[in-house]
Amino acid sequence: MVGTSTVFHLTGGLALPAVGLGTSDATDPAAIKKAIELGYRHIDTAFFYKNEAEVGQAIRESGVPREQLVVTTKVWGTYHSRVAEALELSLANLGLDYVDLYLMHWPVPLNPKGTPADWPVRADGSADVEKDWDFVKTWAAMQELVAQKKVRAIGVCNFSTVNLEKLLAAPTTTIVPAVNQVELHPYLPQRKLLEYCSAKGIVLTAYSPLGSTDAPLLAEPVIVDIAARLGKTPAQVALSWAVTRGIAVIPKSVNAARQLNNLDDFVMAPADVAAIDAISLTKKLRVITPDFGEELFHDDD
Ligand code: A2P
Repeated sequence: MVGTSTVFHLTGGLALPAVGLGTSDATDPAAIKKAIELGYRHIDTAFFYKNEAEVGQAIRESGVPREQLVVTTKVWGTYHSRVAEALELSLANLGLDYVDLYLMHWPVPLNPKGTPADWPVRADGSADVEKDWDFVKTWAAMQELVAQKKVRAIGVCNFSTVNLEKLLAAPTTTIVPAVNQVELHPYLPQRKLLEYCSAKGIVLTAYSPLGSTDAPLLAEPVIVDIAARLGKTPAQVALSWAVTRGIAVIPKSVNAARQLNNLDDFVMAPADVAAIDAISLTKKLRVITPDFGEELFHDDD
């Protein structure tokens, strides 16, 4: 088994393997089970992905003891004002009695009675945001789940420095998010957010670390050249660039050979990190940009 060599220790004591499996496109339990057999010990899902049952099935069928896995799921926008209920639904889907990491999927509460139920919109087509709620209240409810031992740690996703400042300044906030999961790759290196989160003890987790569909970063000349020189694959170089910067990564793959390849991270020399950092000076990309009617990304750099 190729083990993930790097582990990040989160505030609160959770040990997070730096390379996890992203499952947002995964529908086949066999592919997820294969990843666990190959050595993945950090599995990322979400209520919104509608595959928690498949993830739970894969975990059970893998035979790997539950305590050896770090399982992440997320509360969806329409559940911000009913977080405890959302967690119970996720635990039932997963067939687990706790999750290791429970994350707020987006900082925007959506109307719990709107339609369509998972992404409600108003008559004019705009997002049906729950106006009398905000993410500070959602976070307060998430903190209670830690006390109840239903989740080992809590965190956020898609939070900018502006929204993190608001959350951390709130009188009800007693727990600093353990992680902030955001889109992050060499075309979107998130320098300002990384600096801010590092100072606060928040570990960044990179989703779409290969640039999402078609993995455009794997054809990026700077990455291809470094990979050839080091005898690594472009994917290993793109992922290890992030891990070397202290960022966890959750690449998606349903292919066993690529899953195994992605798991094998290495510590990258500073000159190579700097060369990859420089890519975004001329090429920028943000793939995931849902329109919730408010600015979410204040920090792109
Ligand atoms: P597949 O599931 O067929 O392997 P991201 O994690 O940035 O969202 O990128 C995921 C995309 O990259 C998926 O389409 C996945 O396809 C592909 N992918 C994942 N790992 C590798 C790899 N090591 N080499 C090539 N393509 C990869």
